[in-house]
Amino acid sequence: MTDQKKGRAQFSSKFGLIAAAAGSAIGLGNIWKFPYITGVYGGAAFLFVYLGFILAIGLPVMLSELIIGRKSRRNAFGAFKKLTPGTPWMFIGSFGVAAAFLILSFYGVVAGWSIKYIIFSVTNHFQYCSPEQISKVFGSFIADPLDPLLYQVIFMLMTGAIVIIGVQKGIERYSKVLMPILLIIIIILDIRAVTLKGAGEGLRFLFHPDFSKLSFEGVLSALGHAFFSLSLGMGTLITYGSYVNKNDNLINTAIQVTTADTIIAILAGIAIFPAVFAFHIEPGHGVGLIFITLPNVFMQMPGGYLFSIMFFILLTIAALTSAISILEVVVAYFTEELKIKRQISTVLATALITLLGIICSLSMGLFSEFEVFGLNFFDLLDFISANLLLPIGGMFIALFIGWAFGKYKVIREVAHGGKLKGWFLQIFMLLVKFVAPIAIFIVFLQGLNILDIIVALFSGNH
Ligand code: PHE
Repeated sequence: MTDQKKGRAQFSSKFGLIAAAAGSAIGLGNIWKFPYITGVYGGAAFLFVYLGFILAIGLPVMLSELIIGRKSRRNAFGAFKKLTPGTPWMFIGSFGVAAAFLILSFYGVVAGWSIKYIIFSVTNHFQYCSPEQISKVFGSFIADPLDPLLYQVIFMLMTGAIVIIGVQKGIERYSKVLMPILLIIIIILDIRAVTLKGAGEGLRFLFHPDFSKLSFEGVLSALGHAFFSLSLGMGTLITYGSYVNKNDNLINTAIQVTTADTIIAILAGIAIFPAVFAFHIEPGHGVGLIFITLPNVFMQMPGGYLFSIMFFILLTIAALTSAISILEVVVAYFTEELKIKRQISTVLATALITLLGIICSLSMGLFSEFEVFGLNFFDLLDFISANLLLPIGGMFIALFIGWAFGKYKVIREVAHGGKLKGWFLQIFMLLVKFVAPIAIFIVFLQGLNILDIIVALFSGNH
């Protein structure tokens, strides 16, 4: 109430909150990245490890972010400044805002590809194409100096247009409409996939673990992906948490969002692997799984024309509701910390991120010569944000709740003056104080390839 009087935005309903937060979590990470890394690391074994990380680390860090946001009612940077004034904790927030900038710039590029693939699907572009031709079309499209920019700009304009309207009328309202559509489309795609002849093999790949295929690298990727997929480590859920009503139950919210994100990732796997196996295509093809392998599958599948259109609409919707949450991190920072009006903040943030994204997109073709540490600009941004900034942010967020914020304030924020079950609190505190930070630290080392170097030294193949 008091916040509304002061004019700070709030989600208007429980469903609105869940739709917006699940909308943030469910994105390219679930539908593009999860299936291909599961394919690369051998299927079910990867899935099981991923689920373990989601429970032990993702869930507690998500609850931590929501607590920080709701308690402070500030943006990712201002939250730490308000809760622990005059301490270096607020640097966590700066990392977050920087990560938001970088992630959205390459996220917008891939989302733009997705829009282009809706058009390819509608115009039946891949009809009569051989697998090699389909792969070539993708390669020359992303390397083109103009075409991908057009779709990236369209996507960024859509994102900015929703954010500029505001938290309740923009973000919440669109999430409430788009998320149910996403769910319906993915269920239709699942039904199609599992009713294909030969679908069983794909399901076996997804659900029967073969731990021999799971490398050390696979375990670490699972942890990194848990962060990316749940939108953790850069203050997205601090920002959304700051719009949560005092009476909402944060524990339930964290559990529901985590469950929804995980179920959608598995449903995406169920939509993709049975179809890929039914047509005898290799699943471990990495990044191109969605843009090269799937168009191949759709060409051969009965009803593939419609399913292809639906799939890329699904991918675009998922990307859009995530992108608005990333943009909101920057916009909330601009408005509250730099005191720039919301409309101007949105235009400014969208423009700056789009510009960075353009460089990113051009690094696929025109600027592909330009490399840092052997990575082009696109891969560099992905690497710095997902492998460095998110894990570092997540680690400090867990440490902040575990050590600086402390048990008693946690009880006050989540228990609503009622009782919190003792065992829950014990486990939660143990996870945020020790388990999550240590595990994340290991991923961070992996991000810098330090672990690879150590492993190589020990196995003697350097
Ligand atoms: N969780 C989103 C996805 O899976 C990506 C994202 C990362 C969104 C970080 C916000 C913050 O695609």
